[in-house]
Amino acid sequence: MSGSSLLFSSTIDQLTSTLPEPLRKPRVGIVCGSGLSTLADSLRDVVKVPYDDLEGFGNSTVEGHKSALAFGLIGPGEGIPVVAMLGRFHTYEGHKLSTVVYPIRVLAKLGVKNLLVTNASGGLNPKLAVGTIVVVQDHLALPNLTGYLNPLFGPLLSPEYPRFLPLSDAYSVRLRRLAFLAANELQLPDDALAEGVYAWVSGPTYETPAEGRFLRSIGADVVGMSTVPEAVAAREEGMEVMVLSLVTNPVIIPATYRSIKEEVKAELAGKPLDQAPLETVSHDEVLVVGKQKAEVMKNLVAKIIETIPRD
Ligand code: 6GU
Repeated sequence: MSGSSLLFSSTIDQLTSTLPEPLRKPRVGIVCGSGLSTLADSLRDVVKVPYDDLEGFGNSTVEGHKSALAFGLIGPGEGIPVVAMLGRFHTYEGHKLSTVVYPIRVLAKLGVKNLLVTNASGGLNPKLAVGTIVVVQDHLALPNLTGYLNPLFGPLLSPEYPRFLPLSDAYSVRLRRLAFLAANELQLPDDALAEGVYAWVSGPTYETPAEGRFLRSIGADVVGMSTVPEAVAAREEGMEVMVLSLVTNPVIIPATYRSIKEEVKAELAGKPLDQAPLETVSHDEVLVVGKQKAEVMKNLVAKIIETIPRD
């Protein structure tokens, strides 16, 4: 047996031996993005396991991310057992991609069949207002966007996995449908939930205006620093995946296109242009929008989970 599968079995044994019966076999996994850890507030009978206590897990160092698995029940009646990752790992923290996706593989081994991933993203499509939740329909993670990173590099972890994993169906149509049906049931306004393509970049720098325009021009609607590695590993593990991406700030801001040459010319001609000041994105802004929309996200995630058919 390879070292990595030994590591899995000890992590799994550790979890199954400490968790009470109904929580031992979670049906749905939730990954909570920046400022979205309150998604776990809708869980009952919660048992939290800090990442520090789990072999193979890294430590999430980003503000707005906690560092624990939260097992609990969601929905009416006896409830549906779910597990939420409060905090995730990113490559920009110095983690290897194998560490970033390790918890996803653990969730798969615990029996999770459906994975709901949330994140905060920058808006590239001008139709997406801040606060819009985007149901991701596809992604862009070409090596040149991520510094040649793919979580499936290296020998296959299991002989059952395909060497060349297809990703044309990465984002489950079945779960995406449930998201729009849940939004309808919650009577969310039509523009609360959109759909689009997520571009994965390594970060930790936010995009320059030129990079934002480039990403838009190659077909991305939103951009962020997470999610794609987890989605790819989850697909390799055979899970169905859905991603809800909360637009926390616009990336493409018209004011960033202003021409200083034109401004100086106008000034010298005695006709100063009335220009908006340059704006920059901050992590605080990302967290504020996350907080504002946490309630909607929480209700949406709970409603989606309640409508996933038992199989
Ligand atoms: Cl503007 N860019 C990236 N890469 N990630 C983000 C973001 C922007 N806003 C939230 N997350």
